[in-house]
This record gives sequence, C-alpha cells and structure tokens, in this order.
Amino acid sequence: METKELQNRRLLLGVTGGIAAYKCAELVRLFRQRGAEVQIVMTEAAKRFITPLTLQALAGRPVRCDLWDIQAEEAMGHIELARWAELVLVAPASADFLARLRIGRADDLLTTLCLATEARLAVAPAMNRVMWQHPATRDNVDVLRQRGVEIWGPAEGEQACGEIGPGRMLAPDELVRRVGEFWLPRRMKGVKILITAGPTREVIDPVRYLTNRSSGKMGYALAQAARDAGAQVTLVSGPVSLVPPAGIECVTVQSAREMFAAVMERIAGQDIFVGAAAVADYTPLRIEKKKIKKNSRTVTLELARTVDILATVAALDTPPFTVGFAAETDGLKGYAQSKLERKKLDMIAANHVGPGLGFEVDDNALWVFWPGGERRLSRAPKQILARKLMTLIMDRYAEKNSIENSG
Ligand code: CTP
Repeated sequence: METKELQNRRLLLGVTGGIAAYKCAELVRLFRQRGAEVQIVMTEAAKRFITPLTLQALAGRPVRCDLWDIQAEEAMGHIELARWAELVLVAPASADFLARLRIGRADDLLTTLCLATEARLAVAPAMNRVMWQHPATRDNVDVLRQRGVEIWGPAEGEQACGEIGPGRMLAPDELVRRVGEFWLPRRMKGVKILITAGPTREVIDPVRYLTNRSSGKMGYALAQAARDAGAQVTLVSGPVSLVPPAGIECVTVQSAREMFAAVMERIAGQDIFVGAAAVADYTPLRIEKKKIKKNSRTVTLELARTVDILATVAALDTPPFTVGFAAETDGLKGYAQSKLERKKLDMIAANHVGPGLGFEVDDNALWVFWPGGERRLSRAPKQILARKLMTLIMDRYAEKNSIENSG
C-alpha cells in the first residue's frame, strides 16, 4: 500500500544545469508515487543533462522550458503557473541559478516564476565544492536564506568532478522527505489530537510524593508541532515547569489517576492519541493523612499498579490512532516492539535513557516502530524531532485511514 502523503499537492519542480539533473527522474517518480502533481520547468542548460521527454513521461504533464512559448503560454501562462504552485523546489540549483535568484532576474521562465510566485521556495544546491565555498556563492546563499528561501543541502561526498567535499545534491528520497515535512502545516487541519506529557506525582503523605525525571519537553514540543500543523490539540500535562503553547487546550493534573480521568473524559472524537507522559506505573496503596515519622530503621511502602492509560485508549471500541513512547536503558528494539504488539499500538517511539540521554535534556534520538516498519530519527533538538515524528505519525495515520476506507 502506497502512502499518499502528498496527494494532490501542487509542486513546481525547477531543474537547472548540473550533472545532478539526472537524479530528477527518480525524484519525479517518488513525488508522483506519493500523489503529488508535478509541473517541471527546465532551464536551457538543464536540457543538456537530461531530456525534457524523460521528465515529461514521468511527470505526466508537459515540461515547460521557454518563457516565449506561445502555445504553452496559452494553456497555462507563466503567471498562472506561479499561482498554481504550492511549493517551488529547484533541484538541482546551480551556482549560476542561485546568483540569478539572488539578484532577482527574470530572464528565463524559471527565474520569472520564482519572482512571480507567492508560494514557498526551496532550493537544493548542487555544484563543485570550490564553487559552493566561493565567497560569492556563500553570500548569495546567505541573502536567499534571509529572504526565507529554504536551502536544502548540499550533502558532502564524492563529486562528479572527482573531488570530495560539500556540493552534492541531496538524495531524492531525502528531498521527498523534506517536502513532506514542509507540507505538514497543511496536513493536520481538522485533525483532533490528544497528547499526554510530563511526569505524574503519586502522593505518599502530605509532604512527600513519588515521581520521575520527565521534563515534559517532548510532549510539549509535539503539542506545538501539531498546533503549527493546524491540528486541534488537547494537552494533558503532569506537573512541569513549561509554558503550554498558545492556542491549545491544556489540562494540568498531578497523579496517574487524575491523568487517566482527564484523558478518558476527552478521548471521544479524538483522531490521534499520543502518550508522551511518563506515567507512574505504581502508586502508594494508601495515602497517609499525616506525615510519616522516622521512628523505625526501615520503612516499607506498599504500591499498587496504576491503570495503563495508553493500553486503555488503544483497547477502546473505536480507538484513535494510538502512539506510545518507550524509554529504555537496554534492549530498546525488542522491548519497544513487544510493547507495540502487547498494547496494540499503531506506533511506538523509543529512546534510550541514561546519563545525558532522554530525560531533562534538550535533544534526543528516537527509534520509531509501527506494524511492518521502522525509522530512526537521529539526534536533534526536541523541537525538530517533534516535527519529524509528527510527520511520520501523519504518514501512517493517512495510510491507515486509506486502508480502512478502501476495505
Ligand atoms: N503509559 C500510560 N499509562 C501508564 C503507564 C504508561 O499511558 N499507567 C504510557 C506512557 O505514556 C508511554 C508508555 O505507556 O507512552 C510507556 O509504556 P510502559 O509499558 O509504561 O513503559 P515502561 O513503564 O517503561 O514499561 P516496562 O516497565 O515494561 O519497561
């Protein structure tokens, strides 16, 4: 089953003159496979590296090259084309193209479109490493970045000219991934998501409680990413020292029992549930009304299991798309996959915890598993990781819905 995460998205792919242009064939194939509509615009130089016919066959619509092509202009004028695009991606973007973009030239169809469009613009530079590192190119890229142009890449590695260094165009699958992330902001409109975050506090007596080292940062970052993506977000949070993102509903709770009640009250009608909270697995059997005095050498606390919120949500008659977290010190993959199966989750995000990892830190790495697939999200600040995870959640959520709707 294909994921159609780019279904009906209108992408204008600009191709400029560089050896990496041959990779556009694969790029177009991947975009089409994901449901995107792809309009290709080539510069004169690009045609020396790959034929318009090849790209046209893959894109399923005529390639545009010439600003002065009367017939093509009649079908869809360059201004209409500029309005049609939701995203303009120029890949590969040559040094010459970046220079022309920086000055704001309109001397061919592609530069004219870039000037005439209000769509977001992303470029994937590809050139010899010395050209990339030249102060002129650096300066052009800086100015473009300040203007809000997304600069994707280049990657480091062996170049067509035999040299090694930065200048390779990002791989097609990486570009497709970034385009998916770019479109996330429109993808969650109308989606209702409930997220739990932070630790819980299990009261022992009037002055003491049991808790854990969760800071709530991951759950809050996920809430923000979902809000930015247009979702309707409810955050059920244990005690943390974070300010909830604006524009979401935030319910604060203390104990695992309160968190369970707050979630169950609000779960009906939710499309997605993410259990990012570090909920206490055990809570004191009795809450002492008076402070426990130290009148013996040892003390025994009797603890009882809490209700598993995540498993309860996943076991509902019509459960939302359910995502769990797993924090492990060892055996990460095995434990995470068995939790996925045992709790009947749609996805689980696992991370290593230990000194300097996982809790209380600003960055993290995640291993994400779902039935039949997995992906590693490499170490990054939690804000960035949250966007990546949200993209992955939306991909799988869309896939599950399309299977259910067709079945
Ligand atoms: N969770 C929950 N309610 C609980 C306990 C955990 O919703 N009472 C959720 C967490 O939010 C997280 C996931 O379950 O998404 C963690 O799974 P869990 O089995 O509790 O992990 P561990 O406690 O690490 O499990 P184990 O002790 O088996 O390692």
